[in-house]
Amino acid sequence: MALQMVYYPDPRLNERCKEIAKLTPELVAQVPEMFDIMYKHRGIGLAGPQVGVMQRILVANITGDRERKKDEKVFINPRIVSKSGTMLEEEGCLSLPGLNARIKRAGEVKVEFYDLEGQGWEMEADKLYAKLFQHEIDHLDGVLMIEKMSAADLKAWKPLLEEMEGDFKAGRAPVRRRDRKKPEDDEAAE
Ligand code: CO
Repeated sequence: MALQMVYYPDPRLNERCKEIAKLTPELVAQVPEMFDIMYKHRGIGLAGPQVGVMQRILVANITGDRERKKDEKVFINPRIVSKSGTMLEEEGCLSLPGLNARIKRAGEVKVEFYDLEGQGWEMEADKLYAKLFQHEIDHLDGVLMIEKMSAADLKAWKPLLEEMEGDFKAGRAPVRRRDRKKPEDDEAAE
């Protein structure tokens, strides 16, 4: 079955995903589809549960450019092993279209992960990659950025969240209103 974008408040976004014990052909076959959905929604990172794949897998391309295959990265069982510093940067989320807010994160992270060949890696990240890892690994733990927003931002975005809750109840993808930005104007989202 084709993968589909999962939007707030779908309860799958609040589940903690299981570790991947074995890279099955089924999972590997879903990776190109995950990238395709990410690009279609103008994202730079996508976590399994955002397309209903309830496993610890992330795909990313921080250029957001589907032509730049060399920048495509797949992270299996990614784990933050150390953090330092802080940053407060704007974030968006493909599962919360139209919403963006500044979120406090660590400034640098060290991440361990496996690639699609089962080889283990360690990566030190700062700036955009550090933000991406923290945002996406939160997804694998069932945590959305709205849980980390300031009370003022949460209040400001409440009408949009309520609108998405209505869309979800009605069984439709979030309706974009005129007063929201068009998808092509969106900032890079995760
Ligand atoms: Co997200």
